[in-house]
Order: sequence, then structure tokens, then C-alpha cells
Amino acid sequence: MTSALFSPIKLADLELANRIVVSPMCQYSADDGVATDWHLNHLGMLANSGAALVVIEATGTERHGRITHGCLGLYSDDCEAALARVVAHCRRYGTAKLGIQLAHAGRKASAQRPWEGAQPLKPGEDPWETIAASAVPFGPNWHVPREMTAADMERVREGFVAAAMRAVRAGIDAIELHGAHGYLLHSFVSPISNKRTDEYGGSLAARMRYPLEVAQAVRAAVPKGMPLGARITGSDWLDGGLTPDDAVVFAKALKGAGLDFVCISSGGVSSEARPAVAANTNVPFAEQVKREAGIATRTVGLIVTPEQAEAAVAEGKADMVALARAMLDDPHWGWHAAHALGAEVPRPKQYQRAAPKVWAGAAYRDQ
Ligand SMILES: Cc1cc2nc3c(=O)[nH]c(=O)nc-3n(C[C@H](O)[C@H](O)[C@H](O)COP(=O)(O)O)c2cc1C
Repeated sequence: MTSALFSPIKLADLELANRIVVSPMCQYSADDGVATDWHLNHLGMLANSGAALVVIEATGTERHGRITHGCLGLYSDDCEAALARVVAHCRRYGTAKLGIQLAHAGRKASAQRPWEGAQPLKPGEDPWETIAASAVPFGPNWHVPREMTAADMERVREGFVAAAMRAVRAGIDAIELHGAHGYLLHSFVSPISNKRTDEYGGSLAARMRYPLEVAQAVRAAVPKGMPLGARITGSDWLDGGLTPDDAVVFAKALKGAGLDFVCISSGGVSSEARPAVAANTNVPFAEQVKREAGIATRTVGLIVTPEQAEAAVAEGKADMVALARAMLDDPHWGWHAAHALGAEVPRPKQYQRAAPKVWAGAAYRDQ
């Protein structure tokens, strides 16, 4: 039987060998936005996971657009040079194509790293003023962001463009805009966080306007053949929040702006939201978007086993499957999935002696 998960897919001019994607994962290990040796280690490892595409973590398009002091950025020549070094390293030793998620954290910026508490930075921790669609904080103890002015909107839009051009120069294969998890672009789209009374607030069309302007500007700046996509929200998990139907409308608009794919995630717009925690949580949202918006669609969220991932693609619910924590737990997840599903993935020659065909121990592990 041929595996659907291990069948190729083309996004714009980029050929991906299979449908497995390493989901973007913040590492909080950069130095003023500059990638460190941790990134060589982490991304170098995942470039050999068997996934066709590794998406580099949410990367701040401006210094204050980062979530924490440790988040990766792409707003200086130093950031660009360090990213180019990471990309070159992954290409030299790995097999995956490399994407990057460009992000602005908006009202969820100026926060502590998870292992420091994940709370808003306190006085003495070098906090900064945050910006968002409206002056609506993420939660009760959070910084109240400043409502973005026209000048802020222009600067942030140009920041996305400049970061995208830096990513292209650094050798990245695909770009993804972060339009989910309550960060700046999501804060415009969601009625929970957007209370504006100008042309950027009110109806869904008005709330999508700014993210679409950003998407159009980035699309115009990056090569046509380079896939550009966005991670968007399938559900805010709150009454009065975004729904899967809204995700379809947004995905159609992004497709109209020339984007090549979407990833449907959910949650994160408010500390009050209670996302469902269950296997395949977001798969029904992806299925609806794929069917109704007709754009290449990725699903993500508690996908752990090869059979789960295979089913999402084989049953036509998603075109690609992203995994985050399962990849941290097993950085060769794609190798093991290939073995389970009767497919092949390339391994580095240094590791070929552990291939199931030549290593008797692989059979013991499967028992
Ligand atoms: C350590 C870690 C860092 C994350 N950072 C990001 C990020 O930079 N951008 C993003 O969109 N999602 C981020 N996420 C969310 C994941 O990409 C993914 O959507 C989520 O973990 C659900 O997938 P999973 O069940 O496979 O882990 C992060 C998750 C983890 C565990």
C-alpha cells in the first residue's frame, strides 16, 4: 500500500518529498534575535527528522515584536547572517527544506520565557510597550497594549517585508506568516481583540484588512515561486470569537492575495479561552478550510502516531500534517513513520547502519 503521508506535494515551485512538516517551535535561545549554536543543534537535528519541511520558529519582524528576550528575530544584519549560517548548516547535513515563520507578538510580547514563568515581564526585567489592534490585554495580569496608529501599521507591514527579504537572502525555501495564537495579526482578525472603529475594525472583512495588507506586501516582495503561507485560527474557543467559517473566509482571502498554503491552528487569543485538548483537535477545521477555500491546507495539534498523520492526508482532510511536541520527543519521527507505513526516507550516510533493513535491532524495538 502506498502511503499518502509519504507522497510528494508541490507548493508554488517548491517540491516537498512528503507531507510531514516540523511545526514552528520557539526556542527562546536567541541573543537579541540572533540565532545561536542551539539553533544549529535543534534545527540541524530536525532537518534529519524525515519531515520534508522544517518551519523555523516564530521570528520577530521587529525587536519589540518578539515574545521574549530570547526569541529569534530577523530585523538586523546580525540576525540575517546568523540565520544564513543555520540554513547552510541544515542544508549541508540535513534533507528537509527550510521554512520560517515570520511573526509579531503584539500584545503577547514582552513576556518571560516559559521556564521563567511565561508571565508578562515585570519592572526590572526590561519590559517594553506592546502594540495591538486595540488596547485589549491578553488576560487580567497582562500589559495593556497601545492601539496601533497608522504609522505603527506602516512600520510593522514594512518590517514583515524587510524580514521576508532577509529570509530570502538567507536561503530560506518557504515563508509562513503567523496569523494565529493571539499574536498581532490574529489580534486584528478576532472580534475578541479587535475593537477598532476605523476601517480596520467591525466586520470580518474590515478585521482581515490589515493582515491582508501585510500578506500582499510580503507576496509582492518575495519571489513568485517561493511558497508563502500563513498559520491562521480555526477557532478562538470562545463565544463570539472566530469560528471555522471565519477561517474559510480568511483562507479564501489569503489565497486571493497570492498565498500558497495555510496551516489551521486554534486558540491563544485570550487567557480565558479553553481549547479542546484531544487528538486531532484541529483536523475538522483544516478539513473544512481545504474543502471550502481550495488552498493547500496543513493541520496541526496533538498528532502523534504515524497512523493518525496518514489518516489525515489519506482521508483528504489535510494536505500536510505538522507535528511539534512529537518531533521534540522523537527527532527521527519521520524515519519511524516511514518504517511503520512502508515508505522510505533518506538518512544521513553516517546513520545508515541503523536502517531497519540492515539493523536487526529495529525489529526488537517494534515488538
Ligand atoms: C516548544 C514549543 C514552541 C512553540 N512555538 C511556536 C511558534 O513559534 N509558532 C507557532 O505557530 N506555534 C508554536 N508552537 C505550537 C506548535 O507549533 C503546535 O501548533 C502545537 O504545539 C500543537 O502541536 P503538537 O500537538 O504537535 O505539539 C510551539 C509549541 C511548542 C511545544
